[in-house]
Amino acid sequence: MSDRLYIFDTTLRDGEQVPGCQLNTVEKIEVAKTLEELGVDVIEAGFPVSSPGDFNSVVEISKAVTWPTICALTRAVENDIRVAADALQYAKHKRIHTGIGTSDYHIKYKFNSTREEIIERAIGCVKYAKKFVEDVQFYAEDAGRTDNEYLARVIQAVVNAGATVVNIPDTTGYCLPAEFEAKIRYLMEHVDGIHKVTIATHCHNDLGMATANTVAGIMGGARQAEVTINGIGERAGNTSLEEVVMVMRSHKELGIDTNINTTKISAASRMVSSLMNMPVQPNKAIVGRNAFAHSSGIHQDGVLKNRESYEIIDPKDVGIDENSIVLTARSGRAALKHRMHVLGVDLDKDALDKAYEAFLKLADRKKEVNDDDVLMLAGKHTAASRRIKLDFLQVTSGVGIHSVASIGLDIAGEKFEACASGNGPVDAAISAIKNIIHRNMLVKEFLIQAINKGSNDIGKVHMTVEYDGQHYYGFSANTDIVAASAEAFIDAINKFVR
Ligand code: KIV
Ligand code: ZN
Repeated sequence: MSDRLYIFDTTLRDGEQVPGCQLNTVEKIEVAKTLEELGVDVIEAGFPVSSPGDFNSVVEISKAVTWPTICALTRAVENDIRVAADALQYAKHKRIHTGIGTSDYHIKYKFNSTREEIIERAIGCVKYAKKFVEDVQFYAEDAGRTDNEYLARVIQAVVNAGATVVNIPDTTGYCLPAEFEAKIRYLMEHVDGIHKVTIATHCHNDLGMATANTVAGIMGGARQAEVTINGIGERAGNTSLEEVVMVMRSHKELGIDTNINTTKISAASRMVSSLMNMPVQPNKAIVGRNAFAHSSGIHQDGVLKNRESYEIIDPKDVGIDENSIVLTARSGRAALKHRMHVLGVDLDKDALDKAYEAFLKLADRKKEVNDDDVLMLAGKHTAASRRIKLDFLQVTSGVGIHSVASIGLDIAGEKFEACASGNGPVDAAISAIKNIIHRNMLVKEFLIQAINKGSNDIGKVHMTVEYDGQHYYGFSANTDIVAASAEAFIDAINKFVR
């Protein structure tokens, strides 16, 4: 039997502190329900004293969620604790997360205080929180830069005061993994009664070591990992949930596992990314668009022969249907043959040789060869006979007016026009296209990225469109972001409208 690692998700508190990532209460409830389905143990729902909005979100999430513990953050201030307890009144399982800075930087510059006074305040906040709830978690802010001997004294004091969980944050993301592991081990060895409480890690990613430090902390004895979906969080972010969970799932020899239903990871990642307007970098571990996309010929061939030659995780385990092999100029014949097979085309050897030659020429011109191109290479249809093209697009948009779009499409040589309004220029353009292509299509993913810097930059649009239960990917790049969005939508439609 493996040891249980508790997953404490702080997407809605530390993650939400990122400028531009703020959610309203309804959106927060949506994220909290997703976290519950995912199987997280604790949801840090907010910092109630910080704003009426945060207070209200903790109240509503407490009502909406059943199984996970709902946690509210406070400073070591009695009023914060009273307000947090009030916000948690409807939670079925509740926890107050209170604490204070313990590094000399915090003691001297933030609190203008002394080490002894900080210990007294730490004891005071835990004891006060215990008047309201049984489950009290204490954080030693900047524990990463707090010397171990003093940190052990602080932790001993709060354990004696009744803390049930002690959180050891590497607030500035400074620690090295070995150093962080040693810190947790030191506490395990020097604090009486530490085995009766849970030690938590809370690592930030300023040096790109948040996951490494969290895993090191777990190896040192921590049994709660504080994480966010996609690793979102202030500055370089927090430890990402999906990485820690998949490290434990992949390294069974560690004998530690979580309650997470990993097949729901990919959907949760997409949802948080789109609600919080935080694109996931394509090469992000586990949830990036390219995380399972093999493009080199040698890798593609290996994966096709046996997935485990180049993949340590089965994409299905994190909720991705099939490993996406991206066809590029480096792809081999086996990859082209496989993609054709997936698309329902099986060529004999001579035809495949010819198609592969044509493929290499095309791949030299295009960065990625898509499914349409592959079908064209297989002689299944010609671009001209099926292509829907954007003929013209005009949009009006601005502040205080409704956006309106008129659009012209060329469908296999025939011209069509339509108008529509929307809550913004992109919405209007998409609606106008839908007025011509009458299909039940839903934009599921919509990502805009600038290629370089500056207002004259080219914008890239990635879009996933759901039609008839399947997802189709569309892409375009244009200096006009509305045009790029319309083109990406059309690109996706071209995949299923033949
Ligand atoms: O990074 C940090 O130290 C925190 C604490 C408030 C837990 O977010
Ligand atoms: Zn933090």
